[in-house]
Amino acid sequence: MRVRRRSTPKGRGLAVTDWRVPLSDLDYGSEEANAVQRVIASKWLSMGPEVHAFEQEFAAMQKAEHALAVSSATAGIHLALLALGVGPGDEVIQPALNFVAAANMTVAIGATPVFADICCLDEPTIDPSEVERVISPRTKAVVVMHYGGSLCRMGELTELCAAHGIAIVEDACHAVGVAYHDARNRWPTGIMAGSIGDISAFSFFSNKNIASGEGGMVVTNRADLAERVRLLRSHGMTTLTWDRHRGHAASYDVVNPGYNYRLDELHAALGRAQLKKLGRNNQRRRNLLGSYRQAVQSLAGWTMPFADTVENSSGHLMVIVAPDPDVRERAVRALRQSGIQSSMHYPCIADFTGFTAGSGENLELTRQFTRRAITLPLYPTMDSDRIKEIVEVLRAVDAKPEER
Ligand SMILES: Cc1ncc(COP(=O)(O)O)c(C=O)c1O
Repeated sequence: MRVRRRSTPKGRGLAVTDWRVPLSDLDYGSEEANAVQRVIASKWLSMGPEVHAFEQEFAAMQKAEHALAVSSATAGIHLALLALGVGPGDEVIQPALNFVAAANMTVAIGATPVFADICCLDEPTIDPSEVERVISPRTKAVVVMHYGGSLCRMGELTELCAAHGIAIVEDACHAVGVAYHDARNRWPTGIMAGSIGDISAFSFFSNKNIASGEGGMVVTNRADLAERVRLLRSHGMTTLTWDRHRGHAASYDVVNPGYNYRLDELHAALGRAQLKKLGRNNQRRRNLLGSYRQAVQSLAGWTMPFADTVENSSGHLMVIVAPDPDVRERAVRALRQSGIQSSMHYPCIADFTGFTAGSGENLELTRQFTRRAITLPLYPTMDSDRIKEIVEVLRAVDAKPEER
């Protein structure tokens, strides 16, 4: 796509976009600029005080024992699986409706992804009964993903995995800053997404609710897992350059082979500025989802997943399900012609060329969902008038059935 520069709404600097209404947009301002300036003035760029403070603040928000900053959520999922001891010959059950990171990391460590279907089109998160069906003696972990910021059925999944001695990894990339609500009250309210399973990973990629460009956080309440992740993220070394700089250590040992998955100070400082805005911005997202919900009700045959539980979501994505794949295609075209960006979260992983050798059966609902779902614009600074405009484009598509 050709890239065009336009002024930001407040006239500060230039933004890069080609869409009149983009899918997502940053809420960046003087807080982020000051954060970067602070790091530059400190002349310390690698893992140091900003990373440490970000970890502390994130752990406090999560009400979790340990938060470990990493270079991306993909790195975090990799380390989570390694810390759990998953390896060659093991199976990791996970949704095929996900970004490919967890599946890729499963394969990277020599294990096999086993895909489980979603609950239904209104609740496109992993179905606990499908997980139960595919559990085998080789199952070592289940990765769950809180789609769009609405949580999986964690009560059922937790009981199931505990009964089978299987670990839970939460891919919590969509669900930062959201507490779990269990309809059957099996969990105390207030427990945060990402603090429910054994270990979790968050992403701070550019389009996430906390956006720093790249970056991630691993969260766990288990000291053993935290210690392994801490070592693995920095080459298995017992001390950091920062420790040695401060005179806290003179040398280091390498206790196991590891990686460079460290986060740098600039990204940590941006993450801290964004974390301060998270509560307000997640609420703005929920308000916009509420407006979308109202508008979508007037569209015959279209549905909105998790429509009844918008208030319990981080509001990461606005997804709508078209009456059929043909209407979906025409709607995407009409949106594009109106300068409105849309997307689809996600193609079925089992259908990617690199994954077709794996288990791809029994994903009927996942495949139906991917053929009918559209992701619409949603970001904290979005004007709610845009929603009416977007829904009118969809209504006009519906009004022309003869073109189907
Ligand atoms: C659900 C999900 N999982 C994993 C990832 C990977 O995150 P990162 O880009 O930080 O590695 C993403 C990011 O797009 C995501 O949305």
